[in-house]
Amino acid sequence: MFRKLLTLVSLLVVVAMLAACGGGAAPVATEAPAAPAAPAAPAATEAPAAPAMAEQVEVFSWWTGGGEAAGLDAMIQLFAANYPDIEFINAAVAGGAGTNAKAVLASRLAAGDPPDSWQAHAGQEILGAYVAADQIEPLDSLFAEEGWNAVMPATLLPLISKDGKPYSVPVNIHRANVMWTNPALLAEVGVTVPTNWDEFFTACEAIEAAGKICLSMGETWTAQHLMEVVVLGALGPDKYSALWDGTGDWASADVTAALETYAKVLAHTNADAASLSWQDASKLVANGDAAFNIMGDWADGYFSGTAAGGNLGLVPNEGYGWAPPPGTDGVFQFLSDSFTLAKNAPHPDGAMAWLKTAGSKAGQEAFNPVKGSICARTDCDKTLFNAYLQTAMADWETDTVVGSLTHGVTANPSWATEIGTALGLFLADQDVAAFQSALVAAAAAYPN
Ligand code: GAL
Repeated sequence: MFRKLLTLVSLLVVVAMLAACGGGAAPVATEAPAAPAAPAAPAATEAPAAPAMAEQVEVFSWWTGGGEAAGLDAMIQLFAANYPDIEFINAAVAGGAGTNAKAVLASRLAAGDPPDSWQAHAGQEILGAYVAADQIEPLDSLFAEEGWNAVMPATLLPLISKDGKPYSVPVNIHRANVMWTNPALLAEVGVTVPTNWDEFFTACEAIEAAGKICLSMGETWTAQHLMEVVVLGALGPDKYSALWDGTGDWASADVTAALETYAKVLAHTNADAASLSWQDASKLVANGDAAFNIMGDWADGYFSGTAAGGNLGLVPNEGYGWAPPPGTDGVFQFLSDSFTLAKNAPHPDGAMAWLKTAGSKAGQEAFNPVKGSICARTDCDKTLFNAYLQTAMADWETDTVVGSLTHGVTANPSWATEIGTALGLFLADQDVAAFQSALVAAAAAYPN
């Protein structure tokens, strides 16, 4: 017992020393292995305190879990190497798609206690919320200094800009419309990847007859993610995009048919979806319990990332496969994570150092291959990316690009919240007519 205690004490001292040397880069909120229990606690307080650094930066995100934290850590390590005198405070709040983080952030902003920089999606989430509420600073000087106007995609710049000034630093491009597959299970049940919803329903019969889940799903935001993909597949890119810019008709028969298809798709998902995270749902495919999962390509980071980082360590095209969800071939439904500079940021110098790291080629090359996204920048070294991400890079250049609802591109937060509320009711009552009326009302009440 005594020897065990000694070992724990030495371990903690080494950890404390590493933290002191590492520029404060140790993440505070990742799903790292649990800290040793009771006996170790007093030793931790006895370890020499790390010297406080003169400068700090507090960065807020929701990247704490498998596939998410590892990417952020890679960027934090680069930051620590480049700015050894700035302490990095990782204020990440757990919960996929920022479900919890956004609520925490909102109350901090309301209380006048902003983090220096926070994760925000390009599109209406930035323009319709943080810019509209005057909570973030324009970054035109930084963009000019760093030459970013020339290396950020022309499709993206308008989605982070107002009056010609950019308001955030995009760190990646994610694809929302991906259907992940278990190739071994598909072979076992004799099913090929469906390209339209009729084929999908036929495939489900064979998969379910074999006692497997056809399409795995998780908590409510993943149901909304599935909805936007199904609606895109049913309407096609033009009619889908028209729903968001005010020219489309939410009351149309096309939308009714799309929602009916969505209801049918839901009937082929797992019964315990509400209690599963997106990682849990993706894992059902990885384990061979489910054939398909429709999720953004952060799932690629989770499937292929190392087990040490809380990921599944699978080989792309072997342990997991991917395809455009039915009806969405040739369409890239995108979103982009970016970082802001808070108005009245407590540590503006630290924040600028962080933003420079996030926007740099080295930062994006460290982050994206691990996160399961492609660079926002157009000049990253493509050979650093795995087989799935290579296909995403090629498709981003050639596909028709549309935005994601669930991840901040297409609807301002009030509109998106209203859709989420309507969806919550629909998941309980499956009433397509009531759902469509609620969507019509939401579009009229909260246009962008
Ligand atoms: C999205 C975010 C992604 C990923 C995902 C799951 O909103 O843009 O980077 O974190 O949520 O948490």
